[in-house]
Amino acid sequence: MVYPYQIQSLSDYKKAYQQSVEDPENFWASVANHFTWHKKWDKVLDWNFTDPKIEWFQGATLNITENCLDRHLEKNGNSPAIIWEPNDPNEKPRILTYSKLHEKVCQFAQVLLNNGVKKGDRVCIYMGMIPELAIAVLGCARIGAIHSVIFGGFSAQSIADRVEDAQSEFIITCDGAYRGAKDIPLKNVIDDALIGNKTVKKVIVYTRTRTPISMLKGRDIWWEDEMRHVEEMGIHTIPAVEMNANDPLFILYTSGSTGKPKGVVHACAGYMVYTNYTFVNVFNYQPAQIHFCTADIGWITGHSYIVYGPLSAGASSVMFEGVPTWPNAGRFWDIVDKYQVNILYTAPTAIRSLMGYGLWPLQGKNLSSLKVLGTVGEPINEEAWNWYNEQVGKNKCPIVDTWWQTETGGCLISNIAGITPSKPGWATLPLPGVQPVLVDDKGNEIIEMEEGVYKGNLCIKFPWPSLLTTTYGDHERCRTNYFATYPNLYFTGDGALKDEQGFYRITGRVDDVLNVSGHRIGTAEVENAINMHAGVIESAVVGYPHDVKGQGIYAFIIHNNTESDESLTRKDIIQTVSRVIGPIAKPDKIQFVNGLPKTRSGKIMRRILRKIAEGETENLGDITTLLDPGVVEEIKKGYI
Ligand code: WTA
Repeated sequence: MVYPYQIQSLSDYKKAYQQSVEDPENFWASVANHFTWHKKWDKVLDWNFTDPKIEWFQGATLNITENCLDRHLEKNGNSPAIIWEPNDPNEKPRILTYSKLHEKVCQFAQVLLNNGVKKGDRVCIYMGMIPELAIAVLGCARIGAIHSVIFGGFSAQSIADRVEDAQSEFIITCDGAYRGAKDIPLKNVIDDALIGNKTVKKVIVYTRTRTPISMLKGRDIWWEDEMRHVEEMGIHTIPAVEMNANDPLFILYTSGSTGKPKGVVHACAGYMVYTNYTFVNVFNYQPAQIHFCTADIGWITGHSYIVYGPLSAGASSVMFEGVPTWPNAGRFWDIVDKYQVNILYTAPTAIRSLMGYGLWPLQGKNLSSLKVLGTVGEPINEEAWNWYNEQVGKNKCPIVDTWWQTETGGCLISNIAGITPSKPGWATLPLPGVQPVLVDDKGNEIIEMEEGVYKGNLCIKFPWPSLLTTTYGDHERCRTNYFATYPNLYFTGDGALKDEQGFYRITGRVDDVLNVSGHRIGTAEVENAINMHAGVIESAVVGYPHDVKGQGIYAFIIHNNTESDESLTRKDIIQTVSRVIGPIAKPDKIQFVNGLPKTRSGKIMRRILRKIAEGETENLGDITTLLDPGVVEEIKKGYI
C-alpha cells in the first residue's frame, strides 16, 4: 500500500498540521478516503464537549476487518500479518499471512455466530499473547460484537467486575498462559470470576498450556472443536457485518481516580482512521517493514499498535508471548535479530529493566535492521533514552516518544520518526489534528512562562478521530471524568510543560492515578483492595519514584495488629491486593501507622504522604490545617 497521507518532510508536517486545525473536516475526509467503506459519510464530524457528543464520519458504514484483512489479500495475501514468537525460544514460531489470518478470523467469527453471538453483544477476552487472541479480537469485529479484552494479569474479582459492567454473555479464554517461567491458569481464574454469575452463557477455551482444567457442561466449549465444525462446514470466509461509523468497536477498562475502572468505548470508523494514520506517520512505516510492539494486547497499546494500526496498513506485526528477561535479558534483541525487525516500540520501564543487566545481552545480536525506535506509557528519563539510542539504535535510529492514553485511542503528541526533531524526555509536537492547551487549576490557558517553560494541566480543545465516545453504560461518567473539569476541553489528567519551540514534556498524572511500569492504577482502587483485608482500618496509597517501574506503590495502613509478626501481615495484605486486582497492583512498600494526616473535614492530605513517600522530610508544606499535625512526625519516623 502507498499512503498518500504519509508525511514526508518537516514542511509537510507543518502543512498537514495547519490544515488539520483550519479545516479538520476536509483534512480527515482526505485521509478517510483511502479506506474501504460500504457507504461514505454524510458529515465528517458532529461534536460538542458539553454532552459530550463525538461522532466522526456520521452516516458512513464499514467493517474494520475488511480494512485490516480483505483489502490486503490481493497484493499482500502471502505476506506475514502476524509473526508470533512463543514464550519459549525453543518452541516453533508461527507466521500467519494475511490470507491465513483472514481465513482464521472468518472461521472464528462463524464460531461466534454458531454460539449465538450477535452484533452489539459484549465478548470478554482473557487470553495470553497468542495469535488466537488477535483472531478472537478480529473475529468479534467481523460480526460487530464488542470485544472487551482483559489483561491476563488481572484477578478473578477484576474480571467479575468487568464482565458484570459490560453485561457480557460470552467469554473467550485459554486453559493457561505462559509468561516467562510462569504458567498462569487463566481458565481457573475465569471459573472463580464466574462464581455466582448469571449472565455468561458460553466460555470458549483455547488449549495452550494443557494445564488441567474443568469444563462446565453446557457453558464451556473448546475452541478447537468449534473451529473443526466450521472447517467441516467448508467455511473459509464470511461476509463482514456492515457497521455504522459510530457503533462501538470495543470496550477497554482503565483505571481512573475512583475505585471502579471505566469502560472506555471506541467507535469503529474514527478509531480505524486514526490508528492507521498515526501508525503510518509516527513510525514512518515503509511497506514490508517488520513492526515489533512489545506491549500486551490487554492494553490499549496492543490494540492500536499490534493489531489495528499495523494490520490496517498491511504491515507485519510481531507478537511476543513472553517477557523481556526470560530465559535471559537478551530476549528482545534475539527477536529483533531473528525477524530483522525494523520498528521497535516498547516502554521505558522495559528499557530501564534491561539496562540493569549491562551490555552482555546485546552482544552478538545483529540489530542493524532497526530503523525506528519508540517509547510509550510513561515519561522516559534521559539515562534510559541515551541507552536506548546508543546501545539499541546505535545512534542511527530516531526515537519517537509517543504520548497518549487509552481514551485517546492513538498517539497524540509525538515526534515523527526522521521528520520532526526529537528531544530526550520530551514527547515534542502534537500530531496533525491534535490541539493541546495547558491550563491552570481554574481552566485558564497558561500564557506566561516560568523558568523558560509553560507549565499546566494538559487538555485538548478539539476532537480527533479516535477520542473515546463514551464510557460503557454510563455516559455521565464520561462527561464528569473528562469533559467537566474544564468547560469545552478534554482533560487528560496529565501535567505538562511546553517550551519556546512548542514542544511538550509530559510530567505525569495530576490526579490520583499511578503509573506503575507503564500501567495505570488508581490509588482508590488499591486502597479498596487493601481495605478488604480483615484488620485493616484505613489506608492511603501514593506513588513514589521507582528506578525501574517509574512509580512504585507506597501504602500507609492503619491496622489493628493482632499478628505479632508484622511481616506476615504485610504478606497477607499484598496477597489480598493481588487477589482483588492482580499482581500489578501489589504495594512495593507498606508502612503501618497509627493515624493518617487528615484535614478537619476528614480528607486525607495526600500531598504530605506523597512527600514522605518520596523521602522528603523537611519541606512538607503547610500542615497547620491538619486535625492532628502530630501524626506527621510519627509517619516521618516510620518511613521505609
Ligand atoms: C502516561 C498508554 C509520558 C500518561 C498509551 C498517560 C506517558 C497515561 C506517555 C496513559 C509518554 C503515556 N510520556 N507519559 N510518552 N505515554 N503516558 O491509558 O500519564 O495505559 O495519561 O495509555 O500514561 O496510560 P494508558
